Amino acid sequence: KRVAILISGGGSNMLRLLDGMRDGAIDAQPVLVLSNKVDAGGIAKAAARDVPTKVLPHVDYAKREDFDAALHDALIDARPDIICLAGFMRILTPGFTAKWEGRMINIHPSLLPLFRGLHTHRRAIEAGVAVHGCTVHGVTAELDDGPIYGQATVPVTPDDTPETLAAKVLVQEHRLYPAVLSELCADRVPRLSLGAV
Ligand code: GRF
Repeated sequence: KRVAILISGGGSNMLRLLDGMRDGAIDAQPVLVLSNKVDAGGIAKAAARDVPTKVLPHVDYAKREDFDAALHDALIDARPDIICLAGFMRILTPGFTAKWEGRMINIHPSLLPLFRGLHTHRRAIEAGVAVHGCTVHGVTAELDDGPIYGQATVPVTPDDTPETLAAKVLVQEHRLYPAVLSELCADRVPRLSLGAV
């Protein structure tokens, strides 16, 4: 399988996916790492691993649709079978997601359907949940909606802050995302449930 990864920042999830493809746990090859931010640290990390990279600054596009059209063209060139959003901080237009629905997945730092959108860790603490975590799901026109392919949980303790909780969830993201991608690249539709170690 051919996998493209979209990032906006450091790309810690991207690295785990690249590691899985490099060591054979994920039966796929990385064909593109693309960022919407010029300063995304993940671009240098991908380039250091000889993965083709591309930066498409969203600030260069007056309209959201124009950025999405350029993104679509870049993906057409890369011919991915699966696109992984990994810390990709852009809301995609329905016109774009419709073109890739069924082939695009995302990792979201909450147990969907709880806490769609941003600031999930602060909201989880404010809500007083005892269990939090992350979800890998199919991307649809609706934000943080779509079929759930896997979830991983972490306990929330009274002394947790958004930062400590984010760190615990990120550890689980790094376990969950490669496990889900591995299943999808083997043409299996997963519904994984991973607990904190
Ligand atoms: C993380 O907070 C993660 O929850 C979300 O995007 C953020 C950055 O991820 N998916 P990464 O380190 O760039 O993969």
